[in-house]
Amino acid sequence: MQETRLDTARIRAARRLIDPVFLDTPLYRCDALEPELGCAVSIKLETANPVRSFKGRGTEMVASLLAEQGSRAVVCASAGNLGQALAWSGRGRGLDVTVVASRFAPAAKLDRIRTLGARLELVDGDFDLARERAADIARHDGIRLVEDSLDLDTCEGAATIGLELVDAVPPYDAVLIALGGGALATGVGHVLKSLAPGVEVICVQPLGAPAMTLSWRQRSVVTTDSTDTIADGVAGRFPIPAVLDDLLLVADDAVLVREESIVAGMRMLLDHAGLVVEPSAALGIAAILEDRDRFADRHVITIVCGGNVDMAAYHRWTR
Ligand SMILES: Cc1ncc(COP(=O)(O)O)c(C=O)c1O
Repeated sequence: MQETRLDTARIRAARRLIDPVFLDTPLYRCDALEPELGCAVSIKLETANPVRSFKGRGTEMVASLLAEQGSRAVVCASAGNLGQALAWSGRGRGLDVTVVASRFAPAAKLDRIRTLGARLELVDGDFDLARERAADIARHDGIRLVEDSLDLDTCEGAATIGLELVDAVPPYDAVLIALGGGALATGVGHVLKSLAPGVEVICVQPLGAPAMTLSWRQRSVVTTDSTDTIADGVAGRFPIPAVLDDLLLVADDAVLVREESIVAGMRMLLDHAGLVVEPSAALGIAAILEDRDRFADRHVITIVCGGNVDMAAYHRWTR
């Protein structure tokens, strides 16, 4: 395999830096989902931790390395989950954490960032505007910027999920991965392509936020003017070139799904798996719903990657 920016030895070593509360998450066959989906489905559950998403794996690496170096402060832009995770990881290590987010991000995510002790700055625009502002703060204050998906720690932290999947039995055919900036997909994809190359790596994005998928298909960066999806965790407009290069090496496919399939996926995960998930975490189920023939009689893992939702919106979607 051509080399990605990621390193498997570093990913193995990362397990020692990450608080065990984020590691070795449940992986289980969920046969109650199967009659409707027409294939064997296993869930890798990344919501049962203090920040309810996989992002803690990456922020634990960032924060423990910063603390080791004696750094005091760190800033990131976030759609909501990275900010919570960085706030959690920084709090335990005495770091001053600043998070820049869109004022349109789910209130539950913003409240939690504040509660965890981070300084929260809101921008009057989307995640990509927050990225610009976070970079300005880092330059101005001379502090470490965590750029989700570009920063290798965010990818290699997420990649520890891949190590846990590779060790899993019984064998499975495909892994469905929510695709935003790409840390999760490049991380898990790198490990699978290195250690279990027969497993199909399928990225899933909403039709309303397709920039990275279109970029993967065209093999060069495609940006969009806006996004329109309830899956706020994956709604970016400006793919990062270095991340796209990695994704091109590890993803077998990238598919786009409709909003109604995302909602149906959330409802199924509630009704049949007892899981409250945010829209981004239902993308995998949505992909199966939209293409049952592709997955028929195969064993598919979907990474349930986040569970931070505004409850009023959640009830509206799932009622
Ligand atoms: C719940 C959830 N799923 C998926 C993603 C997308 O991950 P990535 O940006 O690593 O592609 C995010 C990103 O924050 C997320 O919070």
